Amino acid sequence: VARLSVQEAQEAQELAGDVKVQGWVRSVRSHKEVLFLHINDGSSLANLQVVGDPTMENRDLTFGSAVEVQGKLIRSLHKKQNVELKAENIRVIGPCDNLKFPFKTRERHPLEYTRQFPHLRCRTNILSSLLRVRSEATAAIHSFFKDNGYVHIHTPIITSNDCEGAGELFQVRTSDKVPEPGENPHFFNVPAFLTVSGQLHLEVMAGAFTQVFTFGPTFRAENSQSRRHLAEFYMVEAEISFTESLQDIIQVMEDLFKAATSVVLSKCPQDVELFHKYVSPAQKGRLEQMLKNKFIIISYTEAVEILKQAPQTFVFQPEWGCDLQTEHEKYLVKHCGEVPVFVINYPYDLKPFYMRDNEDEPQRTVAAVDLLVPGIGELCGGSLREERLPFLQSRLERLGLAHAYQWYLDLRQFGSTPHGGFGMGFERYLQCVLGMENIKDVIPFPRFPHSCLL
Ligand code: 4AD
Ligand code: MG
Repeated sequence: VARLSVQEAQEAQELAGDVKVQGWVRSVRSHKEVLFLHINDGSSLANLQVVGDPTMENRDLTFGSAVEVQGKLIRSLHKKQNVELKAENIRVIGPCDNLKFPFKTRERHPLEYTRQFPHLRCRTNILSSLLRVRSEATAAIHSFFKDNGYVHIHTPIITSNDCEGAGELFQVRTSDKVPEPGENPHFFNVPAFLTVSGQLHLEVMAGAFTQVFTFGPTFRAENSQSRRHLAEFYMVEAEISFTESLQDIIQVMEDLFKAATSVVLSKCPQDVELFHKYVSPAQKGRLEQMLKNKFIIISYTEAVEILKQAPQTFVFQPEWGCDLQTEHEKYLVKHCGEVPVFVINYPYDLKPFYMRDNEDEPQRTVAAVDLLVPGIGELCGGSLREERLPFLQSRLERLGLAHAYQWYLDLRQFGSTPHGGFGMGFERYLQCVLGMENIKDVIPFPRFPHSCLL
């Protein structure tokens, strides 16, 4: 007896012979002459219809139970499905107490409600679709880089540096034990942290492989309850050597967004449609616009001018030298016609030490870029890196970091190249593609202040 997934069963061309399908019951309808079951095993959004004999019904055959059905695939007369499974035997493998199970058959539960059950919400359509999209998007991003000649690097999770210098580090501690006299209190002999970005390690590798990328978890102890921040999120980061132009970095960001999104749309149309139809009907059109149009580029200085002339008032009044707030980012995107906008050349004092000083405005602006997208604001951040030893050295010295970053300075004296890169928040990317309001609904197990369930 061939064991098939629900998706394989639905796509089966050869209908002869007995098959076995396992999954979880999504609905049970019992009529006088026939029993209908819908089962789902996560392989697709669509359920497999099982047609059985009413005598096969039993007390344990309820919504949410795990079952194994053996029978024959037959052509379905139903327009919406190719085949159905004519059951010869239905076995309940794991019953599900419907009085206690938090989800009800056929009901669309509010996302805030499902969020309370991180261990069970993958049984809802919305999370199930999300996780298939997430998986396809991950593969699409890896393919994009592979197809374009990048080497994938595993950058460390535990590190002794603070790439962004924003003081949002989670420190790694081993125990509360008081160290013995003479014993170093730190497991690694130095304070160690969960990484906020793999960038500095990627820069090391770009100095040997030219084009590299990483795609892993990053951590920020940001005490923010916003709908676009998590304490643990995935970041896609790329680093490219032998480039002197921010435009090259911008091009990769735009290409990555468009290529990955096109693949996701073509690989999981049903799953994406679930979001575009029921969750955020405006997103489909927006996304089509994004894929069709060239993204816009404006300078930070222009952005501040646009904000100052805005007919609306902001909570934070925009001033040259101040960081752009989410409200500003969203306004800029709207002003540009709801297409993604690259904002370039940010103030020197706003940005981390590694960003390259602009030659025409020394110590006033750096070659930085943020990509802002509709509905979200910042999706990516990147820059050219300061590759000139004297500039980097004096900046690190002023910050009192020259000693700690000696290895980073070394990179500038042993075959330094002009280089740059960027990081894209993967959850924000998914929010953007699917039109999801809250970042907690695009990651299986969200971590945020005061919450680390499971
Ligand atoms: O702008 P960020 O802080 O840039 C960096 O970390 C660079 N070192 C990346 C690089 O150049 N290699 O973060 C990059 C992106 C942001 O644009 C945002 O999309 C996402 O990461 N991000 C977050 N996503 C969810 N929750 C948070 N707390 C995030 N912080 C940043
Ligand atoms: Mg940023």
